Amino acid sequence: MKNIRPITVLLAMEALLFVTLFSCQRDPVYIGELITDPTDTIPGPIDTTPVVIITDPCDPDSVYFQAQVLPILTSNCAMSGCHDVESHKEGVILTSYDKVKSTGGVNLSNPSNSKLYKSLSESGEDRMPPPPSDALTADQKALILKWIQQGAQNLTCDSGCDTTNVTYSGSVKPLLDFRCKGCHGANNPGGGIKLTNYDEAKIVALDGKLHGTVNHDPNYKPMPYPAGSAKVPQCEIDVIRIWIEGGAQNN
Ligand code: HEC
Repeated sequence: MKNIRPITVLLAMEALLFVTLFSCQRDPVYIGELITDPTDTIPGPIDTTPVVIITDPCDPDSVYFQAQVLPILTSNCAMSGCHDVESHKEGVILTSYDKVKSTGGVNLSNPSNSKLYKSLSESGEDRMPPPPSDALTADQKALILKWIQQGAQNLTCDSGCDTTNVTYSGSVKPLLDFRCKGCHGANNPGGGIKLTNYDEAKIVALDGKLHGTVNHDPNYKPMPYPAGSAKVPQCEIDVIRIWIEGGAQNN
């Protein structure tokens, strides 16, 4: 966050307040990606907390909810039967910023005592995600704690996604590991589809499902799951497309 000066934030907040109070067009002001709620019958934005745009590149000292925390939660916790909108086990929904803040057990005054963080290290069935799912890694747990310690803000940044020199090992695998493997790993993979290695990824790359699902093409189940989750950034969809167009090679 060191690249935003407090005065800039103040000015921005005043401008936002001015717009909200005095604009005759009383539409809410949204900044950043709109996230739609699958339970909404009228499609539209539900995350009313504006995403604060930080100009890229990402500051290594800040935790970015949209780019770093939400994908961990959707991929490891928000599957059907667990913490998606329909299942909402114990009232906890981990599919969007507002839902995580309001239902996820975030304790700003005592971050390490947050249920969202503590549950990651409980023993037996109380551990989240419960066995046989793998526990989150130490790095992922530390990131979630740091996010809460920094005020559990809704920050996003440009992750430095690169569409030049696209390879399986350097571009596609890290993306699938980060965004998809939690639900498409060895244990109970969604739709029976595993995405943990080249051979598995190649099958869905060549039959059209990999690009069709992430690009939300008609006739494909939109991914990441569940329906209504934010699409992955366009640059990452392009990375997948470029890799497939190049023959989905094992490079
Ligand atoms: C939160 C869990 C979750 C995440 C995250 C997730 N998926 Fe899925 N995926 C599922 C489930 C569940 C199904 C089966 C859906 C169904 O059959 O209704 C599925 C199905 C699929 C299918 C088959 C769809 C079809 O039309 O047959 C593909 C391909 C797929 N996912 C790719 C991905 C990719 C690529 C990502 C990452 C960008 C991803 N998924 C992220 C849970 C997830």
